[in-house]
Amino acid sequence: MSIVFHRNTRIFTLETDHTTYQMQIDPIGLLLHLYYGPRVEKGEDMSYLLQYADRGFSGNPYEMQHDKRYSNDSLPQEYSVCGAGDYRLGALLVRQGNGAQGLDLRYESHKIVKGKYLLPGLPSVRDEDQARTLTIDLFDAASGIRVRLFYGVLPSRDVITRSVQVINDGRDAADIEKAASMTLDLPYGDWDLIHFHGRHTMERMPERMPLPHSVVRVGSVRGMSSHHHNPFSILCEPTASEDAGLCYGMMLVYSGNHSQEFEVDQAGQTRAVCGLDQETFGWHLESGECFYTPEVILACSREGLNGLSQIFHRLIRKNLCPPRFRDRKRPILINSWEAAYFDFNGAQLLEIAEKAADLGMDMLVMDDGWFGDRDNDDRALGDWTVNEGKLGMSLKDLSERIRALGLSFGIWFEPEMINEESVLAGEHPDWILCEPGRLPNMSRKQLVLDMSRKDVQDYLFAAMEKVIEEGSVSYVKWDFNRALANVYSRSLPRERQKEAGHRFMLGTYSLLERLTARFPDLMIEGCAGGGGRFDAGMLYYCPQIWCSDNTDALERIQIQRGTSYGYPASAMGSHVSASPNHQTGRSMPLETRAVTAMAGAFGYELDPGQLTDEEKNAVRDQIARYRSLQDLVMNGTYYRLGEIGREGDQAAWLTVSEDKSEALLSLVLTHVRSNPAFPYVRLKGLDPHALYRDKKTGRLVSGRALMQGGYSLPAMYGDYPAVQVHFVKEG
Ligand code: GLA
Repeated sequence: MSIVFHRNTRIFTLETDHTTYQMQIDPIGLLLHLYYGPRVEKGEDMSYLLQYADRGFSGNPYEMQHDKRYSNDSLPQEYSVCGAGDYRLGALLVRQGNGAQGLDLRYESHKIVKGKYLLPGLPSVRDEDQARTLTIDLFDAASGIRVRLFYGVLPSRDVITRSVQVINDGRDAADIEKAASMTLDLPYGDWDLIHFHGRHTMERMPERMPLPHSVVRVGSVRGMSSHHHNPFSILCEPTASEDAGLCYGMMLVYSGNHSQEFEVDQAGQTRAVCGLDQETFGWHLESGECFYTPEVILACSREGLNGLSQIFHRLIRKNLCPPRFRDRKRPILINSWEAAYFDFNGAQLLEIAEKAADLGMDMLVMDDGWFGDRDNDDRALGDWTVNEGKLGMSLKDLSERIRALGLSFGIWFEPEMINEESVLAGEHPDWILCEPGRLPNMSRKQLVLDMSRKDVQDYLFAAMEKVIEEGSVSYVKWDFNRALANVYSRSLPRERQKEAGHRFMLGTYSLLERLTARFPDLMIEGCAGGGGRFDAGMLYYCPQIWCSDNTDALERIQIQRGTSYGYPASAMGSHVSASPNHQTGRSMPLETRAVTAMAGAFGYELDPGQLTDEEKNAVRDQIARYRSLQDLVMNGTYYRLGEIGREGDQAAWLTVSEDKSEALLSLVLTHVRSNPAFPYVRLKGLDPHALYRDKKTGRLVSGRALMQGGYSLPAMYGDYPAVQVHFVKEG
């Protein structure tokens, strides 16, 4: 059993293959956190870790006033509340009918059931055979607020998921002012925080820092999970490396505003609180109503950062992404964006398609510019009718001719957006998020639709359904090219305006849900100006996300490396683009661009008409190579080689197949020197007893030697040279 409640000690134990999680109902009904970490013996009682001390100015619950050592402010809490004597980070703040905000949550009941819980209207980790759910009800008698804590335990995935339901069982209406998805108290140890910051065209840069004695907060108020702060962070021991040391990962399954807060308290205890951003969120609860927070995925590994990443990779691939794409080969596509931008017609697309087919690709994606009167980025978003004049043919005709070439057909949408200059804006000005009487903040000349409205969702569903049907579309690139501002919904009363941001996300999820149900074979690739919504919420609907608008291979290596801390290679849309690169102007060899793009869901984003015959042959070879490696890249165990910020003159990564029968080493020289050191790496995760053959040189080396003695390569020269070494187990 992965969840056990011990009646005498009143301890809950959650077990995965390699971790244990414990909490205890204390004598006055408070739920204390006991332990989360590497697996301990079955039946072990971890309450010996609780320490009691009079810390001064740390108050006591009323019943415990005789014991100054008992304080909510110093004991580890399972779900922290604001305003009731725990002065550390709170997870929940509810303004009650009489204006009070303190909550005194006491244990009421619990349930253990088979299967993993689901959250209405929200994406969450999918059920699997061994999964179990624990729910614990906590109740505040004075207000009638009930809090239901959800724990999903997936033993073989080594993951625990959490979410919270807030139920107003009081007589008066109440307002939630903060509702995080979890509190995690780590009473002992010093911890480094690794978070992933960035900007447009440079997403998910890891930053590692020791946690100070204050609050550190990262998050987004942009209405999107954002390029700037990913909803994923890691706490690790200060000595933890890529391959050793204790690490905890926290990933929010959400694509909107979020917050990850960390505090080290007066006694050196660490608390993490993750969930919805507080400033931009509020929820009105009438008596009898309830609210669900998004889910947070927790994992813990003592195998260092690589070990932690591998847990998230497996979980996302197997239990989060749409199951129908789990084992399906992804199409090698060519995207029209960097090939033609807005400047194309049907005949030109057919020319690109013809060349792409000749090179061996699988799909043509028609990017932005095919609808309304859109010839640049300042108009027509929202008018999802095909511009037949521009294409010079109907969508049906174009798609048929592309498919006749042996390619499938994909198309770009930006559903949540609208331009002022559009037919839709003239017809439905009330559908736009905007504060009354105020001129809106503009971005890329576009505004945002109020996705909380059912009529907006219905319009988008019908418009997209028509295009997808007409064009026999098998792939949609779902873009999102501005952050939200002036978030005000005309369909909500005053007391519910703070709900607009979260309702916007729920509306987007609902549309995604309807479309994926209507077109089960349609593959949706997420995108938000590249990787501005690269999060577990979108991955629930989209097996892959366009990783960044930066296609410069040298920078992509860094972006993909940063992304790999939380997300698998199979989730990273990654294309070979033209050289010199359109974002940086840097020139890169075609092989280096391909080796970099082969670290994800591979494709091209250039005009094949510009390729020389020699380059065309190279592309044919790359496509054939990727086809033979795709299974390994998408489903293998991924290792970053080299520590954060100490990779030296090379960037290297490795994928080992689950059965350890083959491995792919990729290495790019990021700084070529004269009279250089030899490129060198130690491999990981191989079978020490097996012999592996380097398919290019034919050299045979044991797994143990490759892992202990490593592998060196001849010196490489020129601009950013790259090499792939494919090792295959003998016999
Ligand atoms: C975003 C995407 C690009 C492209 C453009 C089109 O920036 O990330 O790939 O689709 O929009 O406008």
